[in-house]
Amino acid sequence: MRIAVFGANGPTGRHLTDQALAAGHEVVAVTRRPGSITARPGLAVAVADATDPAAVDAAIGGTDAVLSSLGARFSRDAVTTYSTSATAITGAMARHGVRRLLVVSSSVADPHWRPTGAHFFNHVLDPLVNRRLGRTLHEDMRRMEDVVRGTALDWTLVRPSGLFEHPVVTDYRTAETSADGLFTARADLAASMLRELGERRYVRTAMGVITTAVKPNIAKLIWNEGVRKK
Ligand SMILES: NC(=O)c1ccc[n+]([C@@H]2O[C@H](COP(=O)([O-])OP(=O)(O)OC[C@H]3O[C@@H](n4cnc5c(N)ncnc54)[C@H](OP(=O)(O)O)[C@@H]3O)[C@@H](O)[C@H]2O)c1
Repeated sequence: MRIAVFGANGPTGRHLTDQALAAGHEVVAVTRRPGSITARPGLAVAVADATDPAAVDAAIGGTDAVLSSLGARFSRDAVTTYSTSATAITGAMARHGVRRLLVVSSSVADPHWRPTGAHFFNHVLDPLVNRRLGRTLHEDMRRMEDVVRGTALDWTLVRPSGLFEHPVVTDYRTAETSADGLFTARADLAASMLRELGERRYVRTAMGVITTAVKPNIAKLIWNEGVRKK
C-alpha cells in the first residue's frame, strides 16, 4: 500500500513511518519540515501544512490510505489544528477516492473514560491537566472527531492514553470507544494503526489502544512530555 503519514516527523509519526516501511508499504511522509526526514527506499516526502487544503490535496493524490498523528500543544487560545487539518484531509481523500483514514485522537475524547483504579489521575490530574490546561486542545480534538464522523470514508478514530516512548512494540490492547488504561507506548500506537489498516476491525468507530506490558518511568515521562517537548 502507498500510505500518506501526516505528522511524519513527530514522535508517533516516526514510529508509523519506520514500521510501515518495515512492513513493505510505501510511505508519503507529509511534513512542514522536509529536512527533518531521512531519505530511505520506499519513502517519499510531501511538503504541506496540514491546514492548507491545496497542499494537502497534492500530498494525498496517488495514495491508498491516510494515517494522521498530527498534534498541537496545549494553549489558552482556541486550538484549530485538529479540526482544520481533518477538514482538509477528508476533503482531499473524497476528491481522490482514497477511502481509508486512521486519525489519532485521545482517550480523553471519550467523556466516559475513567481508567480503573487510577484515583489520583481521575480525580486530580485528569481534571487539572486534560480538562483545564488542555481544554481548548481537547475541544478541537472533539471537533476533529465530528468532522471525521461526518464523512462517508472508512475512518477509524484512534484513541491512545498518555503517550510515552518504548523502543519495541509490546502486546498492546485495543478496545472499541476507549481502552481501560492510563498509558500507551508510541510504538504500540503505531503498530495498532498499521494492524487496523489490514484487519479493519474498527471501521467507522473509535479504537482505544493501551500498553500494559510495560509502564513508563513517571519522572522521565514528565521530563520528556512536559518539559523537553515545549
Ligand atoms: N501526549 C499524550 O500523552 C497524548 C495522549 C493522547 C493523544 N495524544 C495525541 O497523539 C498525537 C501524537 O502525539 P505525539 O506526541 O506523538 O506527536 P506531537 O508532538 O503532537 O506531533 C506533532 C506533529 O504534528 C505536526 N504538525 C502539527 N501541526 C501541523 C501542521 N499544521 N501541518 C503539518 N504538520 C503539523 C508536527 O510537525 P512540525 O514538526 O512541523 O511542528 C509534528 O510532526 C497528537 O495528536 C496528540 O495530541 C497525545
